[in-house]
Amino acid sequence: MLIIVIFLILGIGGTMILRHTTNTAVDRQIAGRISEQPISAPQLGKTDSLWRNGSGTKSDGKDTNSKNKPTRKITKNARSIIIYFSRSGSTELLASKIAEKTHADILEIVVKDSYAANYQRTLSRANSERENQDYPKIDMKVPSLSQYNTIYLGYPIWAMTLAHPMISFLNSYGKTFSNKRIAPFMTQGGYGQGNSVQRIQGILRNQGSRNNTFTRPLVVDGNKVDQADQRVTRWTEQITNSSN
Ligand SMILES: Cc1cc2nc3c(=O)[nH]c(=O)nc-3n(C[C@H](O)[C@H](O)[C@H](O)COP(=O)(O)O)c2cc1C
Repeated sequence: MLIIVIFLILGIGGTMILRHTTNTAVDRQIAGRISEQPISAPQLGKTDSLWRNGSGTKSDGKDTNSKNKPTRKITKNARSIIIYFSRSGSTELLASKIAEKTHADILEIVVKDSYAANYQRTLSRANSERENQDYPKIDMKVPSLSQYNTIYLGYPIWAMTLAHPMISFLNSYGKTFSNKRIAPFMTQGGYGQGNSVQRIQGILRNQGSRNNTFTRPLVVDGNKVDQADQRVTRWTEQITNSSN
């Protein structure tokens, strides 16, 4: 009898310890939430020497969505919307922080074939897309953007410019951006914003979008988005205080 009792206690205790350890491990992978869905962002917490400017960063192979639905929050009355793409979660986390401050609607850009979990394969694909000017196909329903005055545009920097899904999105929908204020935000591997803002301006112009204004961009290192709260607050306050 005593042996059975000891066995039961050890068994239950062991299970509890195991469950606690597993939960802690899972919690550590969840960097935040966007529209209530968890965000994993493997670059966070890496020291600069381990991070190596983002080189080698894995994704979940589904542009952060292997366990989630693509983020989509569209309401009737919002006057601003966050439109973003993120492969490995850092830009998504930045988008979630902007959403918390602004209560803007949210639309995640989804491509038909998501980028590989493996960094080198993603890089090769991106290089070939760029050389051939053959950008990915978008696979999502895009609502009318007419109700919005401000569009927060979020992307990772790829090869010193916009990540390709954002180029595809703007090539297809940029013509509906006339008269809107654009607030660019991005995460990058330490080399900065590149020509990404000029690129957005050029695409919008080519698409026939007129009368756009641009805010100062928000540029954050991909491994430090969890330390960017104050910058996000200052940036969003500046924008919302000068709302058009
Ligand atoms: C294909 C590719 C190209 C990249 N090129 C650059 C670059 O030119 N400059 C830079 O600073 N970071 C570069 N990076 C690093 C990403 O900008 C950085 O890791 C970013 O935080 C990723 O954001 P995400 O987690 O939202 O996908 C590149 C990453 C990838 C996958």
